[in-house]
This record gives sequence, C-alpha cells and structure tokens, in this order.
Amino acid sequence: MSENSRPKGTPRFPEGPTPDPTGSQFERRIRSFTPRRSRVTTAQGDALRRLWQAWGLDIDGKEVLDLAALFQRPEGSRPVVLEIGFGMGEATAQMAAADPDTDILAVDVHTPGQGNLLNLAERNGLSNVRVANGDAVILLREMLAPESLDGVRVYFPDPWPKARHNKRRLIQPEFLSLLAPRLKPGGLLHCATDWEPYAEHMLQVLTAHPDFENTREDGGFAPRPGFRPLTRFEGQGLRKGHVVHDLLFRRAATLTERPEPDVQSPAAPQDPKAPAGD
Ligand SMILES: C[S@@+](CC[C@H](N)C(=O)[O-])C[C@H]1O[C@@H](n2cnc3c(N)ncnc32)[C@H](O)[C@@H]1O
Repeated sequence: MSENSRPKGTPRFPEGPTPDPTGSQFERRIRSFTPRRSRVTTAQGDALRRLWQAWGLDIDGKEVLDLAALFQRPEGSRPVVLEIGFGMGEATAQMAAADPDTDILAVDVHTPGQGNLLNLAERNGLSNVRVANGDAVILLREMLAPESLDGVRVYFPDPWPKARHNKRRLIQPEFLSLLAPRLKPGGLLHCATDWEPYAEHMLQVLTAHPDFENTREDGGFAPRPGFRPLTRFEGQGLRKGHVVHDLLFRRAATLTERPEPDVQSPAAPQDPKAPAGD
C-alpha cells in the first residue's frame, strides 16, 4: 500500500518500528533530537516490514534487556557496543563488517536510517547488528543493566549550535552519569564531532567527570582511530572545511557514589506544533 493510500490513523509499518514507542513527546524533558516525519524509500520501507521483527527493537522503557538473548549468543560470550545516533547507518555497517566478533546495538529515532541499516545488515550478512528505535536516554535509563556495555560510540551528535539550544546537546554531565554505570570498568566512550565549540564542551565535561579518564596522557583530543570509518555527517562537515575531533575516554575502575541523575529535568516546554516522531 502506498503512503498516500494508507487510511488515516493506521500504522505506517504495522510489523515495523512503533512511532514514538514511549509516548515521549509528552515527556517534559529537554531532548537531543526533534521528532520529524521523513520520507522512507521503497527499499527502506520493505526492510522495515521484513526485518524489524527479527533485528529491530522498540525502546518502550518497559524492561531491562537481556543482551545475550537479543543477539542470540551465550551469556557474556561477546562484547556489546552501543552506538547512539547512527544516522543512515553506513559507518555502523562498515564497523560491524570489520569486527564481526563484536555485537553492535545501534539506536536512532530516524525511520529512514533504521530501514537503511537493516538493508545494509541483510545485504552484508551482518548478524552482529540490532537496530533500536527511540531515545537513547530512555534506553540507558530504563533498559540497560549495570555494566552491560563494553563500549559506547557517539559519532557526530547533533551540534545544536545556537546558544539557546546548547542545552539540547547529548554530551552533558547528567548524561555521562547515566552512561557510566552501564559501561563496564575500562569500557571505552568514543565521541567525535566536527563542531569546534561542541568538541571543546565534550572535552571539558568528560575531563571534569569523575567516572571517566582520558586515554590520552596529554589530556587532549585523540587521533581518529583506524576502526572509525568516515561517517555521512562527517563528510558533510569536511566539505564545509570543518575540523574533526575524536575523544576517547575510559570508564573508571570504580564509580563515584551518587544517586542516579535526574535526566527528566529541567522541564522542557515541548513545541505543540512539532510532528510526532516516525
Ligand atoms: C547529526 S546526526 C549524525 C548521524 C551519524 N552518526 C553520522 O555521523 O552520519 C545525529 C543523529 O543522532 C540521532 N539522535 C539524536 N539524539 C538522539 C537520541 N537521544 N536517541 C537516539 N538518536 C538520537 C539523530 O536522529 C541523528 O540521526
């Protein structure tokens, strides 16, 4: 059925990702993304219909994930890396192909990208990728067990360049406090950005956070590691003459004791005209 002939109110992909799986447009929290309705190509829609039940996951916040079961592996047999904001997923698929012994849980809210990554995974026989639909903050807060992740990748997160939007940036002290307990001791947090002020902000908040240690002895940015491919967003930045910075931080052996951060606040007035997420 074409998009135009679909009766109003019926789901876009009945067997696919659920639009806004937690009803999070009603959650009074500043979010790092704006829900948008984007065009899904025929190939992407086909992948969402065929592959979602096997390789997709809605972030509904209802239960803590059994990652071994999700990847159909024996418990603790393989490292699991979380990639937040994979966009169209080309870099994710390349990394999954280059390292088939690592499982990648890739999360984004962007429906065309979810379809694209499912397509790439099928075409390249990547059994080590699962595609999660929804907000990474809810995934971390509600669905990931302590010390369940071997690594986290955040490549070219939305830069939110306007000063009044800076608070929407994903990499913030509260977010790091949510992330740290889900990472194993020594687990790697790898961030990259082409937006200079965001790079400086990342370096500052990561350096100040007691649960993370810079892998660089000089306390600065890291050279781009060989395992990170060029991403789509990075390519756009480079064409505009932007400089790319990588940051490689390790989770500390022991965590500082403190209550779980309140990532619900401060309250964010949601734009009532914003379209619902795909
Ligand atoms: C600027 S794009 C970069 C995409 C890709 N990493 C690249 O380099 O081409 C940032 C992506 O992060 C996603 N994103 C932002 N906040 C998110 C969140 N809280 N949970 C899941 N995805 C998020 C956006 O939907 C978008 O696809």
